[in-house]
Amino acid sequence: MSKVGIGVIGAGNISEMHVDGYKQRDDVDLVMIADMVPERASEKAAKHGFAHHTGDVDELLARDDIQAVSICTWNNSHAELAIRALRAGRHVLGEKPLCMSVDEALELQKVVHETGKHFELGQVRRYGQNATVLKSFIDAGDLGDIHYAKASMLRRAGNPGGWFADPERSGGGPLIDIGVHCIDLAWWLMGKPKVTSVSANSYSTIGNRANITTLDRWLASDYDPAVNGVEDLVNAVIRFDNGASIMADVSYSLHIPKETMLVAVYGDKGGAELEPSLQLVSEKYDTILNIEPQIANPSFDFQSFHKEIGHFVDLVKGEAEPFVPVEDGVEMIRILRAIYESAEAGREVTIER
Ligand SMILES: NC(=O)c1ccc[n+]([C@@H]2O[C@H](COP(=O)([O-])OP(=O)(O)OC[C@H]3O[C@@H](n4cnc5c(N)ncnc54)[C@H](O)[C@@H]3O)[C@@H](O)[C@H]2O)c1
Repeated sequence: MSKVGIGVIGAGNISEMHVDGYKQRDDVDLVMIADMVPERASEKAAKHGFAHHTGDVDELLARDDIQAVSICTWNNSHAELAIRALRAGRHVLGEKPLCMSVDEALELQKVVHETGKHFELGQVRRYGQNATVLKSFIDAGDLGDIHYAKASMLRRAGNPGGWFADPERSGGGPLIDIGVHCIDLAWWLMGKPKVTSVSANSYSTIGNRANITTLDRWLASDYDPAVNGVEDLVNAVIRFDNGASIMADVSYSLHIPKETMLVAVYGDKGGAELEPSLQLVSEKYDTILNIEPQIANPSFDFQSFHKEIGHFVDLVKGEAEPFVPVEDGVEMIRILRAIYESAEAGREVTIER
């Protein structure tokens, strides 16, 4: 196959990771980058060597020299742009979250099936070396049946502002933005059971903490400290059809001494903590063992984006199997929306299918 022509839609922060991943490959052409802010597309095109740039997504989707696109825009356009790209005959790598609502998710899933084009979801943390190693232990049965997991990402002053803080464009705050990383990881490691109910709480008592300027934070390209309509903190118990459960908590703003991330899974034969650092727990000869795998990256590393992009290119070339299919994104959106619904209603919510 000749080189894979790449289009990138959305020229903000995360597009850097995608483009950097494509630049590791000698079998792709960076054909065009598009952004609703045309100057941003033109700057990125000059910086990274895209042959073309545009402020009009239709112009990008009409190009026959583009076979595959990365969608790196706000959450409110993920489903719509993916559907347009698939219908235009392009393969799609979509940034997380899949989209904002269950209806959008189901529509996108339908179009993926109808068009037969590849759709991969950018759940980049599944590509971490720590995650890959742990999954191989789980698949070999070392942890037994996993009945419990914890998924937690707690920031102190971590609201990125701009569109992230505007629910019309983001679909929510830390739950849909960073909760989608840690809950997806736990759920994937558990073998992707079907959600049956959730019970959750949401709090918005601290605010976006734009006043804290002494700490680094991820900021939207159009940062505006005045915008904030999203929650500070969500916690939830998520129940599954196999009896397993996840306890999750995620925050942008919380009075904790340091930012923390914990993803842990516990089975009847062993347990493991993936983040902050991979560690397994087992039992042998009536003794409990803590096992520390000797790997180059025991915590999440940004090389994972190279792996995610490389896998997508291989998939498009017919040299890899799908890894994060649209169905996984649909189930995750079901979980996240049910969590918001439960927090809003102040009671447990059961999942209708
Ligand atoms: N995988 C990760 O770890 C990770 C990290 C950060 C962000 N993200 C995801 O990446 C996406 C973008 O986040 P970001 O941090 O790059 O935001 P950003 O604000 O830096 O960039 C978004 C860009 O998209 C453009 N855009 C928005 N809607 C558009 C549309 N309909 N058509 C054309 N251009 C459009 C904006 O002008 C902006 O330049 C989000 O969905 C976010 O959840 C993923």
